[in-house]
Amino acid sequence: MEPSFYVTTPIYYVNDVPHIGHAYTTLACDVLARYKRARGFNVFFLTGTDEHGQKVEKAAQAKGETPLELADRVVKRFQALWEKLEISHTDFIRTSQERHKKGVQNLFRKIQASGDIYLGDYEDWYCTPCETFWTETQLMEGNCPDCGRPTEKLKEKSYFFRMSKYQDALIRHIEENPDFIQPRSRRNEILNFVREGLRDLSISRTSFSWGIPVPEDEKHVIYVWFDALTNYITALGYPEYEGNFKTFWPADVHLIGKDILRFHTVYWPTFLMAAGLPLPKKVFAHGWWTVEGQKMSKSLQNVVEPNMLIEKYGVDAIRYFLLREVPFGLDGDFSHAALIHRLNSDLANDLGNLVSRSTAMVSKYFGGSLPSPGPLQREDEAFIGRFPKALKLADEQMDELAFNKVLQTIWSLIGDANKYIDDTAPWMLARDKEKKERLATVMYNLIEAVRLIGLLIAPFMPETGAKIESILGNDPKNMLLADRDAWGGMKPGALIQKAEPLFPRMEKE
Ligand code: ME8
Ligand code: MG
Repeated sequence: MEPSFYVTTPIYYVNDVPHIGHAYTTLACDVLARYKRARGFNVFFLTGTDEHGQKVEKAAQAKGETPLELADRVVKRFQALWEKLEISHTDFIRTSQERHKKGVQNLFRKIQASGDIYLGDYEDWYCTPCETFWTETQLMEGNCPDCGRPTEKLKEKSYFFRMSKYQDALIRHIEENPDFIQPRSRRNEILNFVREGLRDLSISRTSFSWGIPVPEDEKHVIYVWFDALTNYITALGYPEYEGNFKTFWPADVHLIGKDILRFHTVYWPTFLMAAGLPLPKKVFAHGWWTVEGQKMSKSLQNVVEPNMLIEKYGVDAIRYFLLREVPFGLDGDFSHAALIHRLNSDLANDLGNLVSRSTAMVSKYFGGSLPSPGPLQREDEAFIGRFPKALKLADEQMDELAFNKVLQTIWSLIGDANKYIDDTAPWMLARDKEKKERLATVMYNLIEAVRLIGLLIAPFMPETGAKIESILGNDPKNMLLADRDAWGGMKPGALIQKAEPLFPRMEKE
């Protein structure tokens, strides 16, 4: 049986329309999913929408529609964007779906049955934009310590989850599993937070109704974060243990933004512990995008709309830019100038020129038919030897989710290939009939290099990867690396098309 791999995005709130930040997380998951598939894993890649809670209810009221009408409308926009961005998710879960509600209520009941949920009185503060509870002392001048916006006083009956009981177990788990929370700085942040003490968590509300009812006590709706986090297992069929749940749980990685780390590394693991379920293997929190130096916000009207970007620059250029520009885990700034710079230098120049020069020379010197290589010289061996090393390195970097490093590794191969052209100077060899065999060897090596580079690029830039494969006469639907990553995959005699430029150069505005 092929090994399984389960990767998830956060499920996005439907009170907002998708922007570049949502696209970023989903894209990172997509690259990982595509890479793992290419490496032969059986991949489950989950995304979806978070539709319940007071925030969504208020947004719907403001628009004069029901929460479900709002959700139905916004969900279409997420789904349309994922299609345009070529996101290859396995499933899309909506928390308003029956399969999800059933699973959430089941998890609630299960934890209740174990004695870790009790009814009490809640009297503290709530931040609706963050859907988070705070004590008086945690507030910053009356406002939410996370987002700085006003909070409201809540005084209601509430079900509580005995989170305090799991403090020591959680600390132990984080200590014993150094890879559980990444990057490392985030792990320390959470360890410090947990060591300061965990309080029991309010997990139901009575002051509004847009949510999943508490089993046997329908005045209460289940807290939206309890509801939302559970999506990672309800999408696998939980409470049914056979099938996808058995194959894919625990998740290999929950990929999230740094804003929602605590929910994923404190709440979610303790819920799972209380239910006797295994914890996800890794939670990775990436950084935050600003736009031309400023925080993205509706009021600043600087929200970067991904559809517009895709139309202007092309989907692969956007995919490349977002993962290349910023080390994964750190904050980054989006600017059109930086994007155009990357497009021109990395894509049009480095990659585009390599593919067009190599294929044009096979056309010109061999009528488009790939020649057989002759004996190898030392410079060929050095060049060829770079590939297995880079493939291994890229694989390790991918496992660390260091997407920018993987791209650097691929681009160092592209640089080597361009240099190989300059060093071997095929146009000089072509002038001398005696050097025909040498020219054949150089051309074969170049095209083989392009093949491997195309396969490595494909998870990041699926269209470009497929284009390269079809230019080389290979099946663009077969992007498997697993059994095709050894040198020598190209068959002599293959018909190589002369490539049109893969990326047009763009002028700065
Ligand atoms: O928090 N830069 O949903 P959400 C980078 N429903 N990433 C960004 C970003 C930015 N400027 N803005 C948003 C929720 N993101 C909950 C999640 S999961 C069980 C429930 C991305 O719609 C990033 O991944 O507010 C962040 O974690 C997510 O969008 C928050 O999306
Ligand atoms: Mg948010």
